[in-house]
Amino acid sequence: MHPIWWEDGKVVLIDQTRLPHRRENICCSTYREVGEAIRGMQVRGAPALGVAAAFGFVLAAREYANLSRELFHKRLDEVATALAATRPTAVNLFWALDRMQKVAAEYVGTDPHIIANELEKAALELATEDRENNRLIGRFGLQLVCPNACILTHCNAGALATAGYGTALGVIRAAQEAGRVERVYVDETRPLLQGARLTAYELLEEGIPTTLITDSMAGYVLQQGMVDLVIVGADRIAANGDVANKIGTYSLAVLAQANDVPFYVAAPVSSFDFQLTNGAQIPIEERRPQEVTHFRGQPAAPVGVDVFNPAFDVTPAEYITAIITEVGILKPPYKVGIEELKVQSRMKDGNG
Ligand code: MRU
Repeated sequence: MHPIWWEDGKVVLIDQTRLPHRRENICCSTYREVGEAIRGMQVRGAPALGVAAAFGFVLAAREYANLSRELFHKRLDEVATALAATRPTAVNLFWALDRMQKVAAEYVGTDPHIIANELEKAALELATEDRENNRLIGRFGLQLVCPNACILTHCNAGALATAGYGTALGVIRAAQEAGRVERVYVDETRPLLQGARLTAYELLEEGIPTTLITDSMAGYVLQQGMVDLVIVGADRIAANGDVANKIGTYSLAVLAQANDVPFYVAAPVSSFDFQLTNGAQIPIEERRPQEVTHFRGQPAAPVGVDVFNPAFDVTPAEYITAIITEVGILKPPYKVGIEELKVQSRMKDGNG
C-alpha cells in the first residue's frame, strides 16, 4: 500500500481521514492543496509528510517555471516556508524541503523547466529511498522479535505513514513474513484514532492477528504479561536519543519499563534532528480543541470546557531499549551512536 504517489504531473494521496470505511483518493494539482492536505491530516505520519512536501515543491516548480530565473528561486523559497509552516513536529517535513531546496540551488542559473524536471526526479528518489529504508528497518528490527511474539504498538507508523511498508509496522511486517508474530495489540490512539482506524486496518489487510485496545488499557495488558515488546515510530529524535512521537507514547514507554517489557523505536535517519541536544527543544504541535471535545464529529464534552490538545509527547531516551534505523540498531548510550549517524549522513550529503 502506498499512501501518496506522483501521477501525470499531480500528487495523489489516500484520504486518511476517511479510512477505514472509505478508500478515497485526493488529487492535488498545486502545492497549496498539498499544504491543505497536510494540515487536514489527509496525509500524515512523519516520513509521508516529507514525501508530500517534496511532491508539493515539484508542483510549485512547475507552476513557476515560466518566471524569470531570479523570481523562480524567490517563489520556491516562499513555497518552502509555506509548506514548512503546515505542521511543526515531524522533522522529515523540514528535512525533505531542505533536500529539495539544495537540488534547486545546485541548478541555479539553469532554465527553471530543467530545474523542475530535476526536482521531480529528486522527489521520486526520496519516496523510493523511504520505501527501501523501511524494508531495511524491517530487516534489522526482526533481530529483536522473538518467536511467537505479542507486540504492542501506538498510533500508525505503517505504510500509510511513510512512502510504503512502514517503520514500526515495517518491523511487524518483516516479523510476520518470518512467521514470528502471534498477535499485535493496537492502541486506539486518541484523539484521532490513528491506531484504530489506520494500524488495525493495515494489519488486518495483511492477515496479522490484531487486538484493538483503548490507550488506557495498555498498562493492564503489559502488567498481565500479554506483551513481549512494544514498538513505535518517531516524529523527531534529538541528539541524545529523546523521541517525539504521538501523544501517549511517553506513558506507554514508562509502563513498558515498569513491566520489564522492551520498548523499541523504529525510524529512518531522516527522523533525527542532529541540531537538537535534547527532546525539550522539539516543538510540540497543539491541535484544535474539537478533536478532544468531539468523537468522530459527535460532541462528547460540555460546551465551553477548556481543552489541552498536544499532538505529540517526548519520551526520554532512558525509557528506550533500542532505536532501529535503516543503517542498524542503536543502543544506549544514544549520544555516541547518533553522533556517528550525523557524521555518516553529512558524508552522504557531501557536507562531510
Ligand atoms: O499526527 P500524526 O498522525 O502525523 O502522527 C504520526 C505519528 O506520531 C507516527 O507515529 C510517526 O509519525 C511515525 S510514522 C512512521
